[in-house]
Amino acid sequence: MFEKEVFAEPYKIKMVEKIRKITKAEREKLVREAGYNVFNLKSRDVYIDLLTDSGTGAMSDEQWSEMLKGDEAYAGSVSFEKLQKAIDDIMGFKYVLPTHQGRGAENVLFSVMVKKDDVIIGNMHFDTTKAHIEVRGAHAINCVTKEAFDTNSDYPFKGNIDTEKLEELIKEYGPERIPLVMITVTCNSGGGQPVSMENIKKTAAILKKYNIPMFFDAARFAENAYFIRTREDAYKNVPIIQIVREMFSYANGATMSCKKDAIVNIGGFVALNSPDLYQQCTQFCVIYEGFVTYGGLSGRDLAAIAQGLYDGIDYEYLKSRIYQTEYLGKKLREAGVPIIWPIGGHAVYVNAREFLPQIPKEEFTAQALVVQLYIEGGVRSVEIGTVLADRDPITGENRYPELDLVRLAIPRRTYTLSHMDVVVDAFEKVKKVKDKIRGLRFTYEPKVLRHFTARFEFVS
Ligand code: F0G
Repeated sequence: MFEKEVFAEPYKIKMVEKIRKITKAEREKLVREAGYNVFNLKSRDVYIDLLTDSGTGAMSDEQWSEMLKGDEAYAGSVSFEKLQKAIDDIMGFKYVLPTHQGRGAENVLFSVMVKKDDVIIGNMHFDTTKAHIEVRGAHAINCVTKEAFDTNSDYPFKGNIDTEKLEELIKEYGPERIPLVMITVTCNSGGGQPVSMENIKKTAAILKKYNIPMFFDAARFAENAYFIRTREDAYKNVPIIQIVREMFSYANGATMSCKKDAIVNIGGFVALNSPDLYQQCTQFCVIYEGFVTYGGLSGRDLAAIAQGLYDGIDYEYLKSRIYQTEYLGKKLREAGVPIIWPIGGHAVYVNAREFLPQIPKEEFTAQALVVQLYIEGGVRSVEIGTVLADRDPITGENRYPELDLVRLAIPRRTYTLSHMDVVVDAFEKVKKVKDKIRGLRFTYEPKVLRHFTARFEFVS
């Protein structure tokens, strides 16, 4: 039995937002009307919303007060200065370009660094990163450690780069075709799994040999640092900020979606240590995002990010954050729900094919579970499986990823442990009807990014 540890969230609640529980019959009707796609639901009809941890966190009173002080100058605002200072202090990068969110940062950086036929290696690229690579006619290659594919082992750093394979890939393609390597911390597409400091160091050393720059996709850098502290012996009790500084000291730059570990509702940036690269990126920031000191954000957004970066690396906050994710994961595991192990930082990932073996993968097993979870408990999750994987652009066939997953992503500082109990209860209810759950088929299938707008019906 997973016992609740006696410690609590390191904050008290100052403002609340009402959530509403509707009846199961209402949910059945609404999800049918939504074409069995939870992206089409209205959030007011969702009881507990675990669709994403992106931009859904609760800001602190300090962030809100920084927002009030936000300086709304078009150029050279005080808020921008604060952001620049925070990034320099925490990550050690002198040059910063704000962007509207993470994918904006990818667009600005890749506009300079990535061209047709290039090869961008990473542990596991996030969807938007992959898309920004492929749209330029370049190739996105995943090079995560093979341990990542064993979802039951205790291996503590399943986000690690496979350094042997990395070197083989560099030899195969040649360093001149590889403008950068991108390490995503934590590795969202691999289940929110961390990358160890040892692996970061080793990867950096290999890349140095071939003169290839190393970048971080830093969306969840603070959660990664917490895992380094708790799972890597050499970093036991080392202050988080020191771990973060060391992580970034090996890198040439980073892109960040601040909607995650900077705990804001919108924003991102590119951070660099090369004045030349910065200079080249500025023109694309101006074209796509906005002038170089605001990048599509308001001054108050910049100020909230600056403060949020410090909120995000607070040890007590991170401890309760990761504890909450583990609390949910361990309770689900105890209830017999198969999940990716170890539990990731921002989300619990349920292995739908193992949970609902009677639904063939052609009938979108994980999507069927997402729908039933909403019907039973009003919990909104997201499918990370066959629907998300789209069709092969050449053969037109469905792509079946190795795992069909349901992600329960937990917004930061938003829900309590009691809400997690409700999620566990929803799974208990799903378990009771498990054998009766039916698969789905498309009634509408868009050509690209189908998981956002597709519509389904039950296979009878
Ligand atoms: N990189 C990672 C690792 C991400 O998880 C995301 C977004 C992005 C980049 C893009 O950032 O949304 O600000 O443009 N992940 C969200 C999610 C959407 O639900 O996991 P963005």
